[in-house]
Amino acid sequence: MSALEGIRACVFDAYGTLFDVSSALAREQATLGDRARALDALWRRKQLEYTWLRTLMRRYADFRQVTEEALRWSMAALDLADEGLVARLMRAYEVLDPYPEVADVLTRLRAAGLRTAILSNGTPAMLTAATRNAGLEGLLDAVWSVEEVRLYKPDPAIYELATRGFGLAAREIAFLSANAWDAHGAASFGLRVVWVNRSGQPREPLPGDPVAEVRDLTGLLPLLGLAA
Ligand code: 2OP
Repeated sequence: MSALEGIRACVFDAYGTLFDVSSALAREQATLGDRARALDALWRRKQLEYTWLRTLMRRYADFRQVTEEALRWSMAALDLADEGLVARLMRAYEVLDPYPEVADVLTRLRAAGLRTAILSNGTPAMLTAATRNAGLEGLLDAVWSVEEVRLYKPDPAIYELATRGFGLAAREIAFLSANAWDAHGAASFGLRVVWVNRSGQPREPLPGDPVAEVRDLTGLLPLLGLAA
């Protein structure tokens, strides 16, 4: 019996899981030098912080606004003032590199009769651009944005978009995220979660237990009884 017996759909987080968010800043290495790494980490942390705070306050603003506000705050914190850089980095968010194994794994899942989807904080426009530019559009049955409920992950209402969208029970859906807090949020809701621990982080002491931990998406295939 495979760890994911009875799964009928695989739902994926987008940023950090399918798309490498650091690829936006990698293109600015020449401009920023060693400040690129600091800006990358601060920007991602602030972006997520603002999603959590706005959800707790019930003061929603979309992910593009939150992402730009986080970028501007982080640049100010690092004494960077460059409108051209803001424009380039925001544009880069629409052309993020997919991780190398993504297209092949999505293709294998669909060939095995599994449905596939994205469930993300991103706006519909951001996700449409990113999936199109990464060549993933034809490999996804659905793309769900939190925009529909005006709350952010890990609010349970987000993960309900997947059960409602596919008309499946939570136990029939595998959810994959590289963001540990997102993986725990989905597991706490009841989805069967595989944590894509790309950077070898220790487990978080949070509610909800992922059923498996993999280094990249290829590790999902044997869990479904598919050849790697
Ligand atoms: C996403 O929702 C968590 O930002 C990540 O795609």
